[in-house]
Amino acid sequence: MNTPPTMQALRVHHFDGPDAWRLESVATPALAADQLLVRVLASGISFVDLLLARGGYQVKPDLPMTPGTEFCGQIAEVGAAVAGDWHRGQIVAGTAFGGTWAEYVLASPQAVVALPEYSEPALASDLGITGATAVHALEGRARVQPGETVLVLGAAGGVGLACIQVAKASGARVIASASSADKRALCARTGADATIDSRDAHWRETLRTLAPQGVDVVVDTVGGHMSELAFRSLAWNGRHLVIGFAAGDIPALKTNLALLKGASLMGVDIRQFPLKEPQAAQANLQRTGALFAQGQLRPHVAASVAFQDWRQAIALAQDPQTVGKVVMHW
Ligand SMILES: NC(=O)c1ccc[n+]([C@@H]2O[C@H](COP(=O)([O-])OP(=O)(O)OC[C@H]3O[C@@H](n4cnc5c(N)ncnc54)[C@H](OP(=O)(O)O)[C@@H]3O)[C@@H](O)[C@H]2O)c1
Repeated sequence: MNTPPTMQALRVHHFDGPDAWRLESVATPALAADQLLVRVLASGISFVDLLLARGGYQVKPDLPMTPGTEFCGQIAEVGAAVAGDWHRGQIVAGTAFGGTWAEYVLASPQAVVALPEYSEPALASDLGITGATAVHALEGRARVQPGETVLVLGAAGGVGLACIQVAKASGARVIASASSADKRALCARTGADATIDSRDAHWRETLRTLAPQGVDVVVDTVGGHMSELAFRSLAWNGRHLVIGFAAGDIPALKTNLALLKGASLMGVDIRQFPLKEPQAAQANLQRTGALFAQGQLRPHVAASVAFQDWRQAIALAQDPQTVGKVVMHW
């Protein structure tokens, strides 16, 4: 099937919120020799996507822009200079920095991973960033070992749930911290060995009953006041992974805490990773795809909504009561 000259794309015209967004007809992106053109089947709505669309991300795109950073789709065209076994119709998951909330997106072959033909697009739609971040953080940065204890903050979020699964695949024990009973139940169903209420007034004491020797790795997607509490709960040689600041505040830590624990504070940045370490980032994405293909990495899809009903999808994704990932599909 030939690629049509125009496509539907959800475009942001101002950073004032969804009232300034429109699903409209635009030119289908032109393929360069070193790229793949992918027909998007499903694309998730993540915390970063919403930040980007509101102009709140560290990098501000020019307007109008099409948000979306991760996708599952089908290869529509392969650039003339692309090496490797890529072909039309192949199912892939991947990432692009903006542009995935559209019918077609351009992607670098290094930024996609081939998936089994039968892959469910909604379930593969958040591998490119969310899944890849969990693998990079736990396997690449913290080098989590079997038998270690991993504490996941914001554990019912997209990255948090992926981290529970990657930590379990590494043979670790997982303690998941989340704010509601529904979210903690989801964490337990996803594989967490124990859960803790992030609003518990005696959170550190409760954690100590679950991990008397301390935790080996902290997955921190939340920031704010939880970061110091978690860092103080590390065991000797502990690693604290700085991933995000969903709570809003970037915390400050006293460096003597690292000395007392022989501990490391490790940054994780999935956006810069492929720019600084292209081969390692590609291997990380392949590993993410392999975990998916083995059934060890799956998002919890709260709702899969047609792109035509994008307002409903965005409202659901912004609702703090929504548990799991909201995905849009064509
Ligand atoms: N460094 C990287 O490479 C990288 C990659 C991907 C994402 N991120 C960052 O990681 C963070 C999590 O991303 P995500 O996609 O997992 O997000 P998400 O699905 O929206 O989950 C965020 C979680 O954070 C918790 N949270 C605490 N305070 C919050 C607040 N004030 N507002 C919203 N959530 C709050 C929530 O859990 P509770 O209700 O249980 O508290 C929620 O489940 C974001 O800051 C994102 O920018 C970083």
